[in-house]
Amino acid sequence: MLYDLARPFIFTLDAEKAHGLTIAGLKALPLGPVPKSDPVLATTLAGLDFPNPIGMAPGFDKNGEVPDKLIRMGFGFAEVGTLTPLPQPGNPKPRIFRLVKDKAVINRLGFNNGGQEEAAPRLKRMGGRMGGGVLGINIGANKDSEDRIADYVTGVRNMAPLADYLTVNISSPNTPGLRALQDKGALEELLSAVMEARDNITGGAPKVPVFLKVAPDLEPADIDDIVEVTAKHGLDALIISNTTITRPPLRSPHKGETGGLSGAPLKDLALQRLKDFRAASGGNIPLIGVGGIANAEDAYERIRAGASLVQLYTAMIYEGPAMARSMTCKLARLLKRDGFSSVAEAVGSADK
Ligand code: FNR
Repeated sequence: MLYDLARPFIFTLDAEKAHGLTIAGLKALPLGPVPKSDPVLATTLAGLDFPNPIGMAPGFDKNGEVPDKLIRMGFGFAEVGTLTPLPQPGNPKPRIFRLVKDKAVINRLGFNNGGQEEAAPRLKRMGGRMGGGVLGINIGANKDSEDRIADYVTGVRNMAPLADYLTVNISSPNTPGLRALQDKGALEELLSAVMEARDNITGGAPKVPVFLKVAPDLEPADIDDIVEVTAKHGLDALIISNTTITRPPLRSPHKGETGGLSGAPLKDLALQRLKDFRAASGGNIPLIGVGGIANAEDAYERIRAGASLVQLYTAMIYEGPAMARSMTCKLARLLKRDGFSSVAEAVGSADK
């Protein structure tokens, strides 16, 4: 309710400025108690225990400043990043646009971030502050890098020791050419380098799970290729999906901006791609659903369509910070209403 009152003021601010203030506000908050998730929501993926299956998607906390606070807001996990090996400023501003009438956002940030070295000491401290929540670190390549695959290998070496899981993000539409890493040959080369780097991390540490985040803008043949290469290299999960460069019908003044579209207009496409990946993988690769999820019903639909976990970002801009807690409570009720005793039992149940 408080957010409903504050939103008109927040929306008078430039979107990126409002975001900066939100991060600063969260940083200033004392570390409160972790809200208790209903036990029906506890779930395991890639050997990691999640108190609930609803996570904050990357892009909100690019520099890994507040994952501990996101867990206190009720998220079961927080994925920070995208972090690139070197700091970079991203594209010229303005580069985030609210499409209020569509409950959507278009962004063309271009991996603005302070770099992995700057984030590392902070993320090391976060390890002890996650209160049972899971910390994901999303890695990318620098725009001007001459060897993008080498950037991902660097990302694995820098971030694996600090993360509960790593996400290889090759699906931002705002770094020219990045999505070409989804092509079969390039993906093969990338994933073999990434998994080798992961396996070679020394010190006897357990192997950190690696997830791959893909675009929703894929043809059926691309999906088959991605499934084949992902399975071959033993990745732990696929995250479906990033923002779209397509434009479903939109009503807001900023609809013509270049960049990736997220929020409500992405929902149907992201859900369809999740179903496509489930069908292509025969349910054998764990999937994480993201794109246009705005309430418990959306999360539940994604789980029943095959997602073991879900993430969101844009809806929180419209619904406010209390939404994670209300979503987890409602999701627990939906699961129990339908007789499920765990999230895992409900995953893919729409197939049956
Ligand atoms: C993003 N997203 C994103 N994803 C990613 O892997 N790395 C990133 O750095 C970013 N940055 C980013 C910035 C902004 C402003 C937005 C809105 C989104 C994509 C995000 O994680 C998610 O995949 C999509 O936004 C779809 O989910 P929602 O927002 O519809 O819930």
